[in-house]
Amino acid sequence: MSNQHTPQPVVVLISGRGSNMRALVEHCRAQPAAYEVVRVLSDKPAAAGLALARDLGIAAAAVPASGGAAGNPSGREEYDRRLAAAIDECAPALIVLAGFMRILSPEFVNRYEGRILNIHPSLLPKYPGLHTHRAVLAAGDPVHGATVHFVTAELDGGPPIVQAMVPVRPADDEATLAARVQAEEHRIYPLAVGWYCEGRLRCRDGRVWLDGEVLAEPVRYDGGDPPGGAPRGGQRGAAPGSR
Ligand code: GAR
Repeated sequence: MSNQHTPQPVVVLISGRGSNMRALVEHCRAQPAAYEVVRVLSDKPAAAGLALARDLGIAAAAVPASGGAAGNPSGREEYDRRLAAAIDECAPALIVLAGFMRILSPEFVNRYEGRILNIHPSLLPKYPGLHTHRAVLAAGDPVHGATVHFVTAELDGGPPIVQAMVPVRPADDEATLAARVQAEEHRIYPLAVGWYCEGRLRCRDGRVWLDGEVLAEPVRYDGGDPPGGAPRGGQRGAAPGSR
């Protein structure tokens, strides 16, 4: 376990609003925490989350794409090298993708192997990619949610760590469902980042280790009590079960 008196530096990457970034910052400031958000970076100079980060007193900068080349692999690698340079200035323990909407090159992912987390608005492996709330409504799923996972070169495909589940209600539209999912994102992401920075969470050989044990499946919360700090895997919340 890491030294709990020394918060681990974390860099957060965003493309938009930054509500998860804000939740992470507020969480680590509300109590003695294992991590500190030292820098926020965005590929979008106009991202609202950059201004929000500055309002929160966090160093924030854009690393914009250099026009037109993002879609091809060489453009992506060139971008990712600039992004890595901005990240490495802070020597972070962990890189946290919080609505960062670019596909990362294998070179980038390998460089930070096991040190990148992402949050995705679905119960992965269901609904990778975009428009997850729309897809859930179209499929008539009764349950939806969010997943925190380690990042691998496969889009939204890395090993899952923790999931929060929410009910899908008959009157839901994409906006109401998104809001319900995001409220849960704001609970589970600080939790997972905290576990990592406390030294309790690691990814080895494609498997997730939490508190010295391999997770056979992600830790799950079902919208019950707020997640605590000492998970043992399996279902959490209103109906705790075993792993
Ligand atoms: C979040 O809902 C996050 O799950 C999603 O972007 C949103 C960012 O919101 N990420 C993805 O879809 C990644 N595949 P925020 O900017 O308010 O944190």
